[in-house]
Parts: sequence; structure tokens; C-alpha cells
Amino acid sequence: MHVLHVVGARPNFMKAAPVLRALAAQGVQNTLVHTGQHYDAAMSDVFLKQLEMPEPDCNLEVGSGSHAQQTAAVMLALEPVLLQRQPDLVLVYGDVNSTVAAALVSAKLNLPVGHVEAGLRSRDRTMPEEINRILTDQLSDLLFTPSADGDENLLREGIDAAKIHLVGNVMVDSLVRLLPQAEAHFPPDLSRPYALVTLHRPSNVDDLPWLRQLLATLAELSRQWLVIFPVHPRTRQKLLQLGSASSDRFRLLEPQPYLEFLALQQRAAVVITDSGGIQEETTFLGVPCLTLRQNTERPITVTAGTNQLVGRDPVRLRQAAAEILHGSQERKEDGRKTSPPPLWDGHASARIAQIIVQRQAQKAG
Ligand code: UD1
Repeated sequence: MHVLHVVGARPNFMKAAPVLRALAAQGVQNTLVHTGQHYDAAMSDVFLKQLEMPEPDCNLEVGSGSHAQQTAAVMLALEPVLLQRQPDLVLVYGDVNSTVAAALVSAKLNLPVGHVEAGLRSRDRTMPEEINRILTDQLSDLLFTPSADGDENLLREGIDAAKIHLVGNVMVDSLVRLLPQAEAHFPPDLSRPYALVTLHRPSNVDDLPWLRQLLATLAELSRQWLVIFPVHPRTRQKLLQLGSASSDRFRLLEPQPYLEFLALQQRAAVVITDSGGIQEETTFLGVPCLTLRQNTERPITVTAGTNQLVGRDPVRLRQAAAEILHGSQERKEDGRKTSPPPLWDGHASARIAQIIVQRQAQKAG
């Protein structure tokens, strides 16, 4: 059996790595296509290396652009690759532009599509990823969900229950495997407690007056607490426009590799973010997370008790962060000791591989 995987942007890599591994273990032939949506070494190569992924069989080198340009560029470049390789299944991951583009080209070529991380919904269509999620799920033949809310969302949208498989969280598979290695990547000179910040959503970083307010709130927090902020390239451009500079207490870093960032998350007193994946990773690690969004497609991170949505409210952000940071001085342990959500156990990719191989055997029989 031959499975072609399409990845393109940073959050795809930690999801695809364990699935490639699990399928290879079942004797499946994997082809890895990198769309080139993310192209900086710090956003791509270092992740492939640390996650021990195979070299991509091809890189479509689509680069950046408007949503239409980027999506269309992936479609145009991927079609001949699919025609030539004729896989039995195309696997796509998450909700980035490369995901929906690959699903659409594959479906039009009548190639079966599997979506890893199906069913997540923020119910906010101003978010480009929400459109990518809805369309990718409609185009997919196999929908692998990380949590039961995903199944409910898909059923509500009329998707056949037979296509939906609750498998758990593949990102957690990478985390479980690599956390022991991550510990050695913690900066030895970093004092605790600290707040770890990431920001890259257009709704936060493309709105300059709001971004200015947000940075002022973080700078205020940094008067009392150390703030560590690895900066996404999209955000870097905006910080330059606003004249924000790194300081000893408010440290702006380059985008961090996977292991380094995992180590920073595990020991953070609080993580302040607008990322989807980080809401999940902190839930697994039991680290408090404040999400700078009005909604989340990952409500299980809120019900699990680690994640709070602070929306666009600087007062709430400052108060919640200060409260957690104060509390962390009493709590000396790394992370919390409660259980992660069901099936976030490091074996989601093995479940996916088994379903794919069984389905193929049924087809052949
Ligand atoms: C994309 C995903 C988002 C995901 C995020 C993770 C979409 C719609 N968005 O957002 O869901 O959470 O990746 O990082 O697919 N850039 C570089 N170097 C790179 C990549 C990007 O400098 O290697 C800069 C470019 O200026 C580019 C901008 O970042 O225009 C945005 O990149 P893009 O891939 O369009 O979206 P992200 O914001 O990274």
C-alpha cells in the first residue's frame, strides 16, 4: 500500500512524524510531499530533523502569498505529483492552507483523502483555518478526530459516521516520544518562574493598535516576571513596525526548535498564546495556558482545566497571568499531575495506521 502525506507549515510536522512512523512499521510505502508553505530553516528543516522525519520526496516550494495565491500554488504544483505517484491514500494534517489545497486536488482526482485532526471547530469563519477545516472534512473519506467533540461536530455537518474515527491526539504522540530528550534542551541559565509567550494569529498581530496594547500589557508583566517570547516571522515584521525591542526581562527570541520549545513549555509557570497546538500541549503537560482568543476549536483544553480564554481583554490577561505566576512560586513542580484527555496517550498514530491498513485489506478482499 502507498500513502502520500502532504505537509507544509510548522504545526504539520509534529502531527505527520508519528503517522509516517506508524505506517512504515506496518509495511506501508510512504511518500512525503512538503508544499514549502513554511520555508525558513527555523520553521521547517529543524523540525523535520528533530522529529526524525524522512527527507521529503519532493518540495513544491510554494512559499508565502495571499490565501488565494498560496492555496492555488499548492494545487497547481501538487496535481502533477499526484498524477505521477497515484497513491492509494492522501493524508493531510491540521488546518493550514496546504491542508485544504491538497484535499481539494486529491478529491478532484478521485484519490481517497484522510484528514488527521478532523472535526475541530471554532465556529468563527473570520479565522482562515476554520474555512480550511470545514472544507477539508467535507472532502475527506477518512476523518481521524482527536476528541469526541470532533465527532459531534462532523455528525452535525452531515458527515457519514462510518468515515469518522476517534483516535486521539497525534501531536501528543510526538510529545510523549520526545519529552525525555527535550529536558536536555532547557537553557541552563534561565531563571524561574517565567511566562512563555507566542503570538502569530492575524487577529492579534495584524491589528497594530491591539498588538501595541498587548505588548504594553506583557511589558508591564515583565516588570515583575520574566517574559520569554519566541517570535514567529509574521509577528517579527509587526514588532519591527512598532519598534519593540528585546530586553533582559522581556526576551524576544528567534522561533524555537521543537525540543527547545517543549522544554520551555514544560517549565513555564504560564503560557500565553494564540496557537491551537500549544493549547493542547499545555493541556497534556498540565501547564496553565492563557489563550489570547475569543474562541477555541479545542474546547477540551478548557474543560480539562488548563486553558482559559482571555479574549481581547488586557486587564483580564494581566490579572490572570499575575495570579498564576504568584501561585507558581508556591507550586514548585513542573506541570500538573492530573490525567490528560482520553486517548491522548502517545498511541493515536498507531490507531490511525491500523485503520488505514485494515481498510485497504477490506478493499482488496
Ligand atoms: C500558518 C497557518 C496557521 C498556523 C501557522 C503556524 C494558514 C492559513 N495559517 O500561519 O494556521 O498556525 O502557520 O506557524 O495556513 N514567513 C516567513 N518564513 C516562513 C514562513 C512564513 O518569513 O518560513 C512569513 C512570511 O512573511 C509570510 C508570513 O510569515 O507571509 C505568514 O506565513 P503563512 O504561511 O502565510 O501563515 P502563518 O502566519 O505562518
